Amino acid sequence: MPGGCHTYAKGDDQYPELAPGFIVKGKGCHVWDVDGNEYIEYGMGLRAVTLGHAYEPVIEAAYQQMHLGHNFVRPSPIEVECAEEFLSMIPGAEMVKFGKNGSDVTNAAVRLARAFTGRDMIAICGDHAFFSVDDWFIGSTAMSAGIPEAIQNLTVKFRYNDLQSVQSLFDLYPNQIACVILEPEKDTPPADNFLHKLKDLCKKNGVVLIFDEMITGFRWHNGGGQAFYDVVPDLSAFGKAMGNGFSIAALSGKRKIMELGGLEHNKERVFLLSLTHGAENPNLAAGLEVMKIYKREPVIDTLWKRGERLSAGINQSIKEHGLSGHFELIGEPCCMVFATRDADKQPSQAFRSLFLQEIIKRGVLAPSFIVSYSHSESDIDETIDIVHTALTVYKNALVNGVGTFLVGRPIKPVFRKLN
Ligand SMILES: Cc1ncc(COP(=O)(O)O)c(C=O)c1O
Repeated sequence: MPGGCHTYAKGDDQYPELAPGFIVKGKGCHVWDVDGNEYIEYGMGLRAVTLGHAYEPVIEAAYQQMHLGHNFVRPSPIEVECAEEFLSMIPGAEMVKFGKNGSDVTNAAVRLARAFTGRDMIAICGDHAFFSVDDWFIGSTAMSAGIPEAIQNLTVKFRYNDLQSVQSLFDLYPNQIACVILEPEKDTPPADNFLHKLKDLCKKNGVVLIFDEMITGFRWHNGGGQAFYDVVPDLSAFGKAMGNGFSIAALSGKRKIMELGGLEHNKERVFLLSLTHGAENPNLAAGLEVMKIYKREPVIDTLWKRGERLSAGINQSIKEHGLSGHFELIGEPCCMVFATRDADKQPSQAFRSLFLQEIIKRGVLAPSFIVSYSHSESDIDETIDIVHTALTVYKNALVNGVGTFLVGRPIKPVFRKLN
């Protein structure tokens, strides 16, 4: 396996040397490694597992569906049920089509936008880390090897909360940009009505506005980031938490655009999301159950509350240690990451590695602080205590050098040109 695993974010280069090599089991927010060590986990399947690992009602729904068969030659009624449930949750979603991975649906959104506008260029938010495994996005990263320059040149970048940077692209490439794609929110909230103004600007320039709701969806609000901020985009792409770990993703949006991939028009046909496993019945059953749970239980509210409790505890510890400017929580409570900086307050992978090493040693596996519905208050409080002890080591390392405490090599960023 190149890279030693099937997802770069899980790779050896992303964790300190003392990290567990393999996880064999998870229940709720707890996981166990091959040696039987137990951890409170954050990150939760790269943000896909919002309810908790091995969540019984979701497993049961998928299991019952398995007995009825996985995949037929004609659609199964669960495709309609799941679509109706989805459309009832997402405001402004007039149609929906399912895929398996987030990249399936961001790719489909981009293709639709290109077909709809007759334009080739794509404007992506340069402050957002990931949109797709496909060439239109990977070509814009440091790992662009294997992607023709002609493709790379079609993707341009703007800055979040910087409307002028979008306007400049529209001026520089008049009538050439098919779509603007961004997450409704990442580390910083929209300022000065940025999302609303962006929508107006796109409309004025005939550009399709796409929200990538892979992370904000089923985390910020039942209706996604678009409901949270009350902005309806032309198209949106959902995935991750939709299936609580089962592979299901959704492209949704305006009928006049989506229908180009359908049967009820006489324009040129767009090949839109047609996958062998696109509507795998047990995964749709899992997705359907997840959406029902979100509707009847306070999932979103709990994610925010647990995140707030964690954030208050860790921020208190940062204050007590005098680590402000060196260790920082970033993002909304329901979706926090952390920044690690060295003695000169410069971003440091070595300090990230040390922090991870110290929390892992004590039973917390947290490449980020992404909470789930299964994190109890006592899980959060235990985590705060462990983080507090790890930050004591962090503080010592600022004075005595990180190399005194870190075992082995530091972590490296995923997107880099060379090893
Ligand atoms: C914001 C965002 N968009 C799209 C994707 C792609 O999703 P997938 O890995 O399911 O293809 C990711 C994956 O991490 C993501 O974080």
